[in-house]
Amino acid sequence: MTLRVAVIGSGPAGIYTAEALVKQSAEDVEVDVLERLPTPYGLVRYGVAPDHTSIKSIAGYLRRVLELPQVRFLGGVTLGEHLSVADLLTCYDAVVYATGAMVDRRLGIPGEDLPGSVAATDFVNWYCGHPDVDPSRFTLDSPEVAVIGVGNVAVDVVRVLAKTAEELSATDVPHDVLERLGDSQVKAIHMIGRRGPEHAKFTLKELRELGALANADVCVRPEEAAVLGGDFPRQVRGNIEVLQSWASREPAGRPRRLDVRFWLRPVEILGAERVEGLRLERTRLSDEGRVVGTGEYETLPVGMVLRSVGYQSVPLPGVPFSQETMTVPNVAGRVREREYVAGWLKRGPTGVIGTNKSDAAETVRTLLSDLAGARPGGLASVDGLLAERGVRPVTYAEWLEIEAAEAELARTLGRGERVKLVGLDAMLRACRP
Ligand SMILES: Cc1cc2nc3c(=O)[nH]c(=O)nc-3n(C[C@H](O)[C@H](O)[C@H](O)COP(=O)(O)OP(=O)(O)OC[C@H]3O[C@@H](n4cnc5c(N)ncnc54)[C@H](O)[C@@H]3O)c2cc1C
Ligand SMILES: NC(=O)c1ccc[n+]([C@@H]2O[C@H](COP(=O)([O-])OP(=O)(O)OC[C@H]3O[C@@H](n4cnc5c(N)ncnc54)[C@H](OP(=O)(O)O)[C@@H]3O)[C@@H](O)[C@H]2O)c1
Repeated sequence: MTLRVAVIGSGPAGIYTAEALVKQSAEDVEVDVLERLPTPYGLVRYGVAPDHTSIKSIAGYLRRVLELPQVRFLGGVTLGEHLSVADLLTCYDAVVYATGAMVDRRLGIPGEDLPGSVAATDFVNWYCGHPDVDPSRFTLDSPEVAVIGVGNVAVDVVRVLAKTAEELSATDVPHDVLERLGDSQVKAIHMIGRRGPEHAKFTLKELRELGALANADVCVRPEEAAVLGGDFPRQVRGNIEVLQSWASREPAGRPRRLDVRFWLRPVEILGAERVEGLRLERTRLSDEGRVVGTGEYETLPVGMVLRSVGYQSVPLPGVPFSQETMTVPNVAGRVREREYVAGWLKRGPTGVIGTNKSDAAETVRTLLSDLAGARPGGLASVDGLLAERGVRPVTYAEWLEIEAAEAELARTLGRGERVKLVGLDAMLRACRP
């Protein structure tokens, strides 16, 4: 008998899980990848920056997994809305949750909810054309913007703010968004780290790209780039060298300016009706290595604050969830009998796309060893259940129609290989004319 597995979420973790099931299983296996959006690939489509085209090409690898005869894509199906955990356990022998981390972590400071204080998750969704965010959501009308956090997402956000619309024209950024980027009034971007250059989370390759921006001068203060001696890993040494080289560089008079700042933590976002400033406190490390304030403050006259301090997962209805780690508790991927987890939902929002491959392989090893020879589910048909509930999943062939419509739009607009369609209606119209 065939082993039938449902994978929930079609990001890298979900698709690597499907691939590992097909590759590792000695028995026949069928995998349904259920995804709440009509489109696959998770953050590869709606997270990876539009100008990082070589990384986006990982979608080509993931596509080949969805085209395996043992794998089916069912888009527009949400766990918790169209199907429950109990439904899945009736239809399948096992379920793997791989729904990622969709929301922002909070700063917990006054003014965080003022208009103009924006979570990086929303801003990234906006420029990536995610159907959850309307293209008219943001107008870049402030000359100064602060980006809190010095991780790779902050670097992506800074790059998109610093580039011109012309530089982004050949990417898949939705056309309305590109026009808004073209109207941007942003002149100064402040990227703020609460610790020193040696603690920054961005990686060297991504940092170097900021130094190569054609439209922005990058500035670092020598006193903030200074690092007390230490035996740092190669990546960190590289970051420090790059930052220190920028500290001795003269601005070339480019239209925009990026200030990379360190040892400053946000204490209040100021403003009555909307963001009018950001109050920062200088920091140092305590003897225990914790970030503490020094009582010295400065205020930046920014009209927008982008909070890029990490993503976090949300609980799935009926699935165990730890509020402490904000992940699904598991042992080598096992959650409970016949329930498994992979990717960011399993280990938290860290790591590059490839990290999810070994992570998924571990989960699948656990699953296959637990279920060897056993077929406890598969009593009902998920197709029948969805049809009874009036849900018509988006098939892989329909997704290819959406892709084709995006390529056609790019041709019509004279822009690159594809331009994202925005909104569920537009996507469904493209695949079900
Ligand atoms: C902004 C950003 C940029 C990044 N850029 C890079 C990069 O350039 N290079 C790199 O190597 N890594 C990058 N990463 C990291 C990489 O994207 C992650 O490691 C990876 O996407 C995590 O995979 P995942 O499958 O766990 O989650 P996701 O990719 O988030 O996939 C989860 C999927 O589950 C779906 N889903 C959610 N809830 C449900 C539900 N209830 N029912 C059904 N489906 C659901 C979602 O729609 C989504 O498609 C980036 C991350 C971010 C946030
Ligand atoms: N090109 C790429 O490869 C790429 C692109 C994007 C994302 N990614 C990956 O995706 C993952 C997520 O990236 P991310 O940037 O969201 O997260 P991240 O790497 O964890 O960085 C988060 C940043 O926010 C800061 N921060 C957290 N809480 C804060 C607070 N209260 N006040 C001020 N600063 C705070 C952190 O500082 P502390 O260190 O002091 O906590 C850190 O600088 C990472 O693994 C990343 O490498 C990769």
